Amino acid sequence: MFNQKWNNLVGYQIYIKSFFDSNNDGIGDINGITKKLDYIKNLGVNFIWICPFYDSPMDDNGYDIRDYYQIDSSYGTMDDLKNLISEAHKRNLKVVIDLVMNHTSDENKWFILSEQKVEPFTDFYIWKDGKIIKDKICPPNNWQSFFSGSAWGYSEKRKQYFLKIFSKKMPDLNYENEKVFEEMEKIIAFYSNLKVDGFRVDAIAHIGKDLTFKNAKNIKKTYKSFSNLPNTHKYLKKFNQIFKKYDMFTMGELGGDPSRKDILEYTTKNELDMVFSFEQLSVFNKDDTINLKNLMKTLKYKNKISICGGSPVLFWLNHDYPRLKSKIKNEKESSNAQICLAGLMYMLKGTPIIYNGEELGMENYPYSSIDEFKDVNAKMLYENSKDKKQTLCYLKENSRDNSRTIMQWNSKKYAGFSTHEPWNYVNKNYKILNAELEQNQANSVLSAYKSILKTRANNLDIISNGKYKFFRKNAILGYFIENNNQKLAVLANFGENAKKLPFKNYKVAYGNKIFKSNEILPYEILILKSK
Ligand code: GLC
Ligand code: CA
Repeated sequence: MFNQKWNNLVGYQIYIKSFFDSNNDGIGDINGITKKLDYIKNLGVNFIWICPFYDSPMDDNGYDIRDYYQIDSSYGTMDDLKNLISEAHKRNLKVVIDLVMNHTSDENKWFILSEQKVEPFTDFYIWKDGKIIKDKICPPNNWQSFFSGSAWGYSEKRKQYFLKIFSKKMPDLNYENEKVFEEMEKIIAFYSNLKVDGFRVDAIAHIGKDLTFKNAKNIKKTYKSFSNLPNTHKYLKKFNQIFKKYDMFTMGELGGDPSRKDILEYTTKNELDMVFSFEQLSVFNKDDTINLKNLMKTLKYKNKISICGGSPVLFWLNHDYPRLKSKIKNEKESSNAQICLAGLMYMLKGTPIIYNGEELGMENYPYSSIDEFKDVNAKMLYENSKDKKQTLCYLKENSRDNSRTIMQWNSKKYAGFSTHEPWNYVNKNYKILNAELEQNQANSVLSAYKSILKTRANNLDIISNGKYKFFRKNAILGYFIENNNQKLAVLANFGENAKKLPFKNYKVAYGNKIFKSNEILPYEILILKSK
């Protein structure tokens, strides 16, 4: 159900480790975010979503939580978090944090005690005996991890397998066990008490598993046995009561190919407030150009979610994908092409979320060897692959590391992120592509993002109450929004030629190029308002 207090906000996602390093140890931290709140506020956003900062062995950069009640010492302290929340609230910015409910770290005390069968933890995780095949002990079934290889890890201590659909250090929790709900509720209450405003709920589509644990029929799609199943919806309806009790808002990540019916059930049936679904991935062609047909479909679909009473998160990419500009780098004007995509997506009804660095048009890192990758997913994929050369090619373009490079603040050493060598690479283009330079360039991606968000803020009434009508003529596409005789048109031209606009009596609310009377130029986006 749509929660009015969140209606019409715009978010900014922060990958904490790469954002800003306040104490110069090479690692981004909580105080670093606090220092940059004015920058964030200035973009025109209303809330931040911070990737996990909990105590963690960092097998998956914090998505493997050792202690939900502690801040990882590399990121700061609980007092730093309290200070961040209070400084954010002073600026009228809400704070959303990542809540990982599908799994914990194998170093979490729940898992350690579960391995030793200490009550009440024995069944906190999903334990199964192995299968004996030709005198060899093998995993209980053919399920495969999202990060490649078997989805089962073996515990020498307990002499049993545990389910782990991500890395072997990330065992899945068992929601058939009421006690796990109780522990999660304590965590939710704890952060609600700290005045956190909401949660981005991680990997939520996977909390329900096929409880028969039989082999998946399609070996390429074994994730279907632990994605978007009826028990996930059942658990979420229960969690929804808990989130409401603590007045926490939720945005859920819907991986594992949810059906349209599933997506609507998540967002309209008292499960999650907002949903991240991934139709937009189909917009990027393999040759790094834009697929206009799928772009149209994606925009229409996000709108459909709203029409049906749900609330879509409007986003292009996040910390699990390469950079947006690189996904479309073979469009003739890739920066303007990105601006067109941003305008088309962020003028829809829903909740735009910008991923840190997107607003600068940051690009993929020019990787050359496997040793340069840090991500556990990249390493596992490489290790388990037969054709290493091909896998390396794939990773260069697609690795999640691309979006986790250091935020480019200015032209100083390490892009102004730190005075210490950072934990991850700084893209070599930082001297010509950074926040400080772009602040002062009228045609930069940063200026465009700010203007688009401002135009959105000025037209919220039409956006949230209007009726959308989609339009495509060859390479020009977009939509009209109509509300009480007010009209807005959002149109982009992805073709090579300027075209006459199909109507008159509009004034330009935003355009990324110098507007020539009644024409739309190549890679121009126009937001027009009826006179
Ligand atoms: C989500 C996160 C991703 C993480 C995974 C496991 O997909 O976005 O970064 O690796 O869950 O927690
Ligand atoms: Ca630091």
